[in-house]
Amino acid sequence: MTIALAPQDTPSQDAQHATAEGSFLHDVIAGLALQPKELAPKYFYDERGSQLFDNICALDEYYPYHVELELLPSVAADLSRFFHTELSAKESELGIIEFGAGSLRKITPLLDNIDCVSHLTAIDISKEHLLNSCNELRRQYSGLKVTAQAQDFTQPLNLEDPGSTRLGFFPGSTIGNLHRKQALDFLRNAGQTLGAGGYLLIGVDTKKPEYLLHQAYNDDRGVTAQFNKNILTRINRELGGDFDLMHFAHHAFYNHDYGRIEMHLRSLRAQRVHIADREFYFAKGESIHTENSYKYHPSEFADLARQAHWQTRRLWLAPDDLFAISLLQFNPAVDAR
Ligand SMILES: C[S@@+](CC[C@H](N)C(=O)[O-])C[C@H]1O[C@@H](n2cnc3c(N)ncnc32)[C@H](O)[C@@H]1O
Repeated sequence: MTIALAPQDTPSQDAQHATAEGSFLHDVIAGLALQPKELAPKYFYDERGSQLFDNICALDEYYPYHVELELLPSVAADLSRFFHTELSAKESELGIIEFGAGSLRKITPLLDNIDCVSHLTAIDISKEHLLNSCNELRRQYSGLKVTAQAQDFTQPLNLEDPGSTRLGFFPGSTIGNLHRKQALDFLRNAGQTLGAGGYLLIGVDTKKPEYLLHQAYNDDRGVTAQFNKNILTRINRELGGDFDLMHFAHHAFYNHDYGRIEMHLRSLRAQRVHIADREFYFAKGESIHTENSYKYHPSEFADLARQAHWQTRRLWLAPDDLFAISLLQFNPAVDAR
């Protein structure tokens, strides 16, 4: 689903916007009809949601952001040497395709260290935020071609001029927001997009002591709670819903059985909520499951990647194994068992 691209509004973009709004309504109604109720985490991210995510990243407790950002310069220096030996003279240009680009803060260590990057395609579902982030990056790197693609990265992608060798970049452990089957589908689609021999640099959060995980998703200032509730604000504003945010509470915990943080919005009382012409009943204590954040041991993640025909070429671990960054290469001939 492509939502929109260029700054100007055209009739075809209006039609795309209508389609995006239609699928938002459809997904919300379908998700709230489930038992237990659920909403897809991609709907956190409108302009306000992206800003709130940046506010989360500014918190000391949110280690995944800081630890990955600190690891990236040494990863990028290694990658620069790797691509100098790996790329032949005729394939000396690298096109980077970043999935879930957000504020594009993690691309700068790569651009500062790898000199053969000719083009960046930044993909994100949060259109206004993406366009602003790309404009800012163009100002910083005037020689770099930057394309903004406001699109759902779980859908097949058509890339414009991505350079002769393709390096996907998927930081932030965003893959952890996908269930196992969704993660496999994403990796398979990325293989099609990046092509045989293409690379994927992917940041993945690791399993670790539960108190660290708990702190990261339950900050004292309530920023994560605001982010979580933004999904209800969007439903109210864009779909004419009547959620009363005072009567829902943020709830996040580590689910050992599934190896994931779960985020929920818990109803503080029995209540009815209306969206379009539908009514949804919430019992006191009932929750909407809004996000998973799966944590992987590096070997578990390498197994998952192999099942989608991705070979692990390099692995970098942050101190105390708090976070992992892997360089994968797509090889359709890899034994996926
Ligand atoms: C956890 S944030 C990570 C942001 C940034 N990459 C980082 O590492 O700090 C996830 C990002 O992916 C985007 N996103 C989430 N689901 C998406 C989807 N299905 N398609 C495209 N972008 C998505 C969000 O808008 C957000 O910018």
